[in-house]
Amino acid sequence: MERFRVVGGASLHGEVTVVGAKNSALKLMAAALLASGRTRLTNMPAILDVTIMAELLRRLGCEVDYEADAGVVEIDVPQVIGHRADYDLVRALRASISVLGPLVARCGEADVAVPGGDAIGSRGLDLHAAGLEALGATVHVTHGYLIAEAPNGLHGGEIRLDFPSVGATENVLMAAVLARGTTVLTNAAREPEIVDIAAMLTGMGARIRGAGTSVIEIEGVTELAPTQHAVVADRIAAGTWAFAAATTRGDVEVVGGVADHLGIALDHLSGAGATVTTTDRGFRVSTGGARLRAFDVATLPYPGFPTDLQPFALAYNAVADGSAMITENLFEARFRTVQELARLGAEARVDGHHVMLHGVEQLSGAPVEASDIRAGAALVIAGLVAEGVTTVSGAHHIDRGYAGFAAAMQGLGADVTREPDDAPYL
Ligand code: UD1
Repeated sequence: MERFRVVGGASLHGEVTVVGAKNSALKLMAAALLASGRTRLTNMPAILDVTIMAELLRRLGCEVDYEADAGVVEIDVPQVIGHRADYDLVRALRASISVLGPLVARCGEADVAVPGGDAIGSRGLDLHAAGLEALGATVHVTHGYLIAEAPNGLHGGEIRLDFPSVGATENVLMAAVLARGTTVLTNAAREPEIVDIAAMLTGMGARIRGAGTSVIEIEGVTELAPTQHAVVADRIAAGTWAFAAATTRGDVEVVGGVADHLGIALDHLSGAGATVTTTDRGFRVSTGGARLRAFDVATLPYPGFPTDLQPFALAYNAVADGSAMITENLFEARFRTVQELARLGAEARVDGHHVMLHGVEQLSGAPVEASDIRAGAALVIAGLVAEGVTTVSGAHHIDRGYAGFAAAMQGLGADVTREPDDAPYL
């Protein structure tokens, strides 16, 4: 077990590169199952989750080559594939639920272990199930497995999601492309990752209209072909660096970042006094060394403020000028960062799904613990604006979302290193 050691008093300056989005890459790997033959994905992130997804696909009978340094995954899908995703892998990677739609579409049956609760609140699968049922599958849970069956194939259907769930939208999309007839999915999620999957599926021969809007129309085809696809840029990693620059009163160019995918978050930062500009290679956030103003945040489905950036809004407002209220609307219990920030001296109070913060000039270094990917990265950033040394335990959480996080921080001038979790503090 390792932790990050962060020396406080840093201001980040320079450039950092973001690659393909974790939350798209894993789903694109699942989408590859829809066609036999060799699919090639590029701009893939070098993270453990991709390794786990590769293992899951291998167990289904695929050959998978993952060149992490080159950012390339090649998946060779046989004519006949397995249809069971085991608990050990689903447990390690909740996103493996995204094989549900492709498997039921390809095999007429999918048995996917039900993921346990994770560190960011309970997350149901009812919308996934209702979506597949509307396409003619029967869905039930037996012995810890979600079993979806459609022995005679899927048919098109009209589906109105109660909530624009990202995962449910993806599963319905990946099932409907091979269903007989037309599917209309209303109140669909609009995230750039949905647009990315739709683009890949279209490259495979699928007929999809409206991805990126609330209504997606899918005309089923009988067969898809393998393809090549470059993963969309990781907007959450890009947003992490935007907040890191703003929180540390720095100046950072995010190479590969797409400002349009971060509209509301970047608007907040410029409203608070940062200068945000798009560049030839991405975008840049500069503060001129000034302490920025506090701002309120309410998380919402895209294009609202992303829940995955909420921990960064907490770290930012912990040291911003003024008071702020952060409201979490997507996940319950996603405020574990707050108690750790309080250990660093943040003035924060949780009330239900709101957090009230009053910015202090500087935090004070201490040992803290990462509870998930984003909370961990946010705590490292908080450590940069703390006096003295902060250690963030649970480095493996951060590794799941950011390849080479310490090296990237060092490239921006910060003293961030890794050390064994049981090293003496200081
Ligand atoms: C994805 C992202 C995650 C991000 C989230 C919201 C991946 C691997 N993860 O997660 O990082 O935080 O989008 O942007 O892409 N819900 C139900 N029933 C369902 C499905 C969802 O009640 O069948 C609820 C969940 O409990 C949650 C909300 O809907 O409260 C959002 O979930 P969803 O949009 O599905 O997120 P994920 O796809 O799980």
